[in-house]
Amino acid sequence: MERKIILITGASDGIGKETAKALAKQGHTLIIHGRNKQKTLAALEEIKKESGNDNISTLIADMLSLSEVRRMADEIKQKYNHLDVLVNNAGAQFTNQRETTVDGHEKTMTINLFAPFLLTTLLLDLLKKSKSARVVTVSSAAHSMGGKAIIDDIELKQHYSMSKSYGISKLYVIWIMRHFVSEMKRKGITNITFNTVHPGSAMTSLGRESTKSLLVKIIYTLWRPMMTTAAIGAISSINAASSPEMEDTTGKYFGEKGEEKPSEKYYSIENEQIVWDYCMKITEAYR
Ligand SMILES: NC(=O)c1ccc[n+]([C@@H]2O[C@H](COP(=O)([O-])OP(=O)(O)OC[C@H]3O[C@@H](n4cnc5c(N)ncnc54)[C@H](OP(=O)(O)O)[C@@H]3O)[C@@H](O)[C@H]2O)c1
Repeated sequence: MERKIILITGASDGIGKETAKALAKQGHTLIIHGRNKQKTLAALEEIKKESGNDNISTLIADMLSLSEVRRMADEIKQKYNHLDVLVNNAGAQFTNQRETTVDGHEKTMTINLFAPFLLTTLLLDLLKKSKSARVVTVSSAAHSMGGKAIIDDIELKQHYSMSKSYGISKLYVIWIMRHFVSEMKRKGITNITFNTVHPGSAMTSLGRESTKSLLVKIIYTLWRPMMTTAAIGAISSINAASSPEMEDTTGKYFGEKGEEKPSEKYYSIENEQIVWDYCMKITEAYR
């Protein structure tokens, strides 16, 4: 198998760490990203030990800050002359209280949409230098559970709830990744594919903030028996990142067992463009 250079965001825990272990076992060169240095170094040791692969380095950045996303992209550009695979895995859920980042953006939209949008945009030059590059972005089956996409209130200033922000951020990221496909086509760039995946429902630390609410904690507890492991949750990411059959597949949405159809209930080409333009506008200073 051809050895690739692969960046996985949020690889210090859960599905990202399992994705990294599997891709390390395949012998690729990995860059594992985390926000906590100690935790990421511990993950590095675990991944190295389990895979026997030493070609793994770490990258630390808090992706709730857009300038940190810019810094991490700059760091990668300094160290590598090309990138074969970007796995946008880092993601989070927060509480029912709307909170904003250092840049003044709603936190859920930032980590699940704006940060992967910005990172992907900043790394396009490196991905263009790969013989055959892939961008894999972890969405969620919850993309269809956030209710109506309120396109004139993307950051949910008037309509925030935990489930709405999580669900809609995971819907918009599907639209945005498909928009990258048309952007690349428009620019005549043919070597990069963009797919989204969902991990099913896996037992990870994702609910660390949201379960501070008693209601969410009860829902999580009741749902627990239906949950799979992080390793099973990682299957769709691993396949999209490395399976030879997916070499030319682009603009699709995958689960553990293969391609699925995402919800198109609130989709229109105009809505996709509005979300794209919004991402472009708020990240302008960092590109
Ligand atoms: N678990 C599920 O059932 C499920 C279902 C659908 C979709 N997903 C998606 O799967 C992806 C992985 O989630 P998971 O379930 O594996 O959750 P997790 O165990 O909480 O892992 C999330 C990863 O993202 C990192 N991260 C979180 N906030 C960050 C920030 N501000 N800056 C940088 N890194 C940050 C975490 O770092 P720390 O280690 O420092 O916390 C961790 O490495 C997410 O995109 C999530 O939305 C999960």
